Amino acid sequence: MACRLHLMVLIFSCVYLICVSSQQETRFVYNGFNQADLFIDGISKILPGGLLQLTNTTELQKGHAFFKQPFDFGPSSSLSFYTHFVCSLGPPKLGADGGHGIAFVVSPSMNLSYAFPSQYLGVFNSTTNGTSSSHLLAIELDTVENVELHDLDKPHVGIDVNNPISVESSLPFYFSNALRKNISLNLMSGEPIQVWVDYDGSLLNVTLAPLEILKPNRPLISRAINLSEVFQDKMYVGFAASTGGWTSNQYILGWSFSRSKELLQTLDLSKLPQVPLPEKEKKKLPLLVVGLVVSLVIPVLMVLGGVYWYNRNKFAEVREPWEKEYGPHRFSYKSLYKATNGFGNDCRIGKGGFGEVYKGILPVGRHIAVKRLSHDAEQGMKQFVAEVVTMGNLQHRNLVPLLGYCRRKR
Ligand SMILES: *[C@@H]1O[C@H](CO)[C@@H](O)[C@H](O)[C@H]1NC(C)=O
Ligand SMILES: *[C@@H]1O[C@H](CO)[C@@H](O)[C@H](O)[C@H]1NC(C)=O
Ligand SMILES: *[C@@H]1O[C@H](CO)[C@@H](O)[C@H](O)[C@H]1NC(C)=O
Ligand SMILES: *[C@@H]1O[C@H](CO)[C@@H](O)[C@H](O)[C@H]1NC(C)=O
Ligand SMILES: *[C@@H]1O[C@H](CO)[C@@H](O)[C@H](O)[C@H]1NC(C)=O
Ligand SMILES: *[C@@H]1O[C@H](CO)[C@@H](O)[C@H](O)[C@H]1NC(C)=O
Ligand SMILES: *[C@@H]1O[C@H](CO)[C@@H](O)[C@H](O)[C@H]1NC(C)=O
Repeated sequence: MACRLHLMVLIFSCVYLICVSSQQETRFVYNGFNQADLFIDGISKILPGGLLQLTNTTELQKGHAFFKQPFDFGPSSSLSFYTHFVCSLGPPKLGADGGHGIAFVVSPSMNLSYAFPSQYLGVFNSTTNGTSSSHLLAIELDTVENVELHDLDKPHVGIDVNNPISVESSLPFYFSNALRKNISLNLMSGEPIQVWVDYDGSLLNVTLAPLEILKPNRPLISRAINLSEVFQDKMYVGFAASTGGWTSNQYILGWSFSRSKELLQTLDLSKLPQVPLPEKEKKKLPLLVVGLVVSLVIPVLMVLGGVYWYNRNKFAEVREPWEKEYGPHRFSYKSLYKATNGFGNDCRIGKGGFGEVYKGILPVGRHIAVKRLSHDAEQGMKQFVAEVVTMGNLQHRNLVPLLGYCRRKR
């Protein structure tokens, strides 16, 4: 009995092993690339967190990453393949122009060293342009318009066959299953984007969606295409990316591939590495705040300053060295102003040779008369001093005594 069980386990293990090894040739999945054994060239590298960085922001560069084993697309096997990957394309500063894009590539060789960067995306060069000998299929996420290649005028998604001029392309959007409408996608936000490429041997579908969205029911592009002449018996799958005058940090976070729809493994989105987002344009907000503060605070300060200046001038006085002698007799202009109700007409009791006389009440309740002298020149000043000095010395019961004086300009 024990022996039979042992045998069964053995047989089971063998079947399991065969399954695993045959599956490894038709499918794979990478939730991050820490353990991945990929063919990598150009400026591409796997970062410590498991992020596959295809390009950084150095100009006019390219990079490639290929699964090392080729897949059999020979006459006896089907042409179909299914892939799902998550990428991120981030310009150096959020909202800035970035470039040039990435492409999922099916190629007869992993050596794309002949390819050009910039608009050729590290896949094509100017001579392979249109020649069927290159046997290349690329699904491009192109972030730069290129008139020469008849590109759409915005970041776009395209199907390229042996040629950087797409056979079919579209602006990026996804169909929301919930809202039942197309929602546009920003290819250059640096936020992770899911891409599915499905080919059943006759129809090639390309579908995009943000990370948190389930696969949309309707593809972005659905194109009837016969790849039997394009694919050679052995083909490699991988990614290419380039920079030009415009640059972006271009990453792949996770990648699943299978020759059959049913065996395509789902990506575990929670296990994908974190991607550094492009720097926000930090200056914009503070500038706005500074502008607001300036436009609010400056008028307030000006009003406060104006009020202070007005008050200071309203009650401003003039003091001179000779006055020290009479110091105790000096009143503030403000107190006289208040006592006479601002030298109001209702307080005016007479008009003399030197000026007008007002009655007033000091805060202590004392009734006073205030004679306002106006003098403008040196001459008037002398008269004023003479009057103060003489009146100060006069003491008579029929004369109002001089309590004090005040002096200000004009
Ligand atoms: C991009 O990567 C290359 C190769 O690793 C390196 O030489 C270059 O300094 C990097 N550029 C930036 C902007 O990080
Ligand atoms: C790629 O091909 C070029 C010639 O086109 C050759 O010089 C180079 O050594 C090859 N690189 C690899 C890694 O095979
Ligand atoms: C373009 O690539 C092909 C290989 O596909 C190569 O033979 C040719 O020399 C390359 N052209 C240039 C200008 O590099
Ligand atoms: C591709 O070749 C055609 C001629 O066959 C030419 O008119 C076109 O400019 C070429 N495109 C590029 C990008 O070299
Ligand atoms: C969404 O885009 C597709 C093209 O992929 C188009 O055929 C369809 O009419 C659009 N749907 C809506 C609701 O706009
Ligand atoms: C491609 O999309 C069309 C339209 O949604 C669908 O009928 C077809 O089954 C899809 N093909 C593949 C290979 O996913
Ligand atoms: C694709 O083209 C080849 C010949 O070029 C043909 O034998 C095959 O039937 C075509 N496949 C489809 C699905 O039309």
